[in-house]
Amino acid sequence: MQLSEYLAQADALARDARALIDSLDPATRLDVAKGQLNALKDERIAALQGSLRALPAEDRRAAGTAFNGLKTDMQDAVDAFAARQTSRDGDGAWDATMPARRTWRGSLHPVTLVIDEICDIFRELGFTVALGPEAETEWYNFGALNFPPDHPAMELHDTLYLGEDTLLRTHTSPVQVRTMQRFAPPVRVLCPGQVYRRDFFDATHAPAFMQLEGLAVDEGISFVDLKSTLGEFARRFYGASRRVRFGPSYFPFVEPGAQMDVEVDLNDGKGLRWVEIMGCGMVHPNVIEAAGLDSEKYTGWAFGMGPARIAMSRYEINDIRVLYDSDVRFLEQFAR
Ligand code: PHE
Repeated sequence: MQLSEYLAQADALARDARALIDSLDPATRLDVAKGQLNALKDERIAALQGSLRALPAEDRRAAGTAFNGLKTDMQDAVDAFAARQTSRDGDGAWDATMPARRTWRGSLHPVTLVIDEICDIFRELGFTVALGPEAETEWYNFGALNFPPDHPAMELHDTLYLGEDTLLRTHTSPVQVRTMQRFAPPVRVLCPGQVYRRDFFDATHAPAFMQLEGLAVDEGISFVDLKSTLGEFARRFYGASRRVRFGPSYFPFVEPGAQMDVEVDLNDGKGLRWVEIMGCGMVHPNVIEAAGLDSEKYTGWAFGMGPARIAMSRYEINDIRVLYDSDVRFLEQFAR
């Protein structure tokens, strides 16, 4: 073989390699591009290397230089491709068509969702939010709320005492009194908060649970305001087609006292039934007086509901305990 022929072959291989690299789509992965180049090199480089020995001894030096230059040219071609290539290679193999990986960012608990939604509805009806302490005095929890000493109603409100006179509140009704003491009527507040009772943990009770209290006090407030406001709440929360009803009930701090029931299917195969969702009534004059207001001048109505029970009626859950289990497989179906 002649040196000129050898150099021509080396030149042709360099050109072919560059043409191959130039023809590649920039989205081609680098390892794929290198693979194609290697296939081209493998047969022809081996052939060129073999012909080196067939050259006259005085030409071998020049041919060897050309051979090494060829390898550099090929590396340059690959580097140039890597620079304009838009995909990534190696273990970070990148596929634009792959679905994105979503990270679970958590969500609000169904009971929190219900409280927020109820607060939103009542905000539109003119109510603001007020809070009170979970550790209460006997007077706020019972005395000011017209519980006579040792009244049997207190048995339903057995709780933990933190000291002589301090207990874990059994309901959010003490916030009624605190609010009337602090703000002059007209008063319209919603008071969400945690309450505690000596209740067994069963399908419908928990020893610690959220309550949502409502209170409206002004001159000339009557039972009509109670019924129409709570009726409007139910229509907005459950939809106009859901049936609700009021029935008589007893709480020492309201007179008359009532309860509101909603008709729901709890998904247990028993079909529709009435479920009590709140206690309510006209604020007892003794409570208004205990808070320092004139009960001849001011009247009011109040309600107390359990958002967990509301969540059960809203999401058709038949066991309250699933709301306390913190099982995200159950809870995430309510995620918004
Ligand atoms: N505080 C009562 C309870 O815990 C509920 C209630 C609130 C009833 C306001 C009437 C008015 O059961």
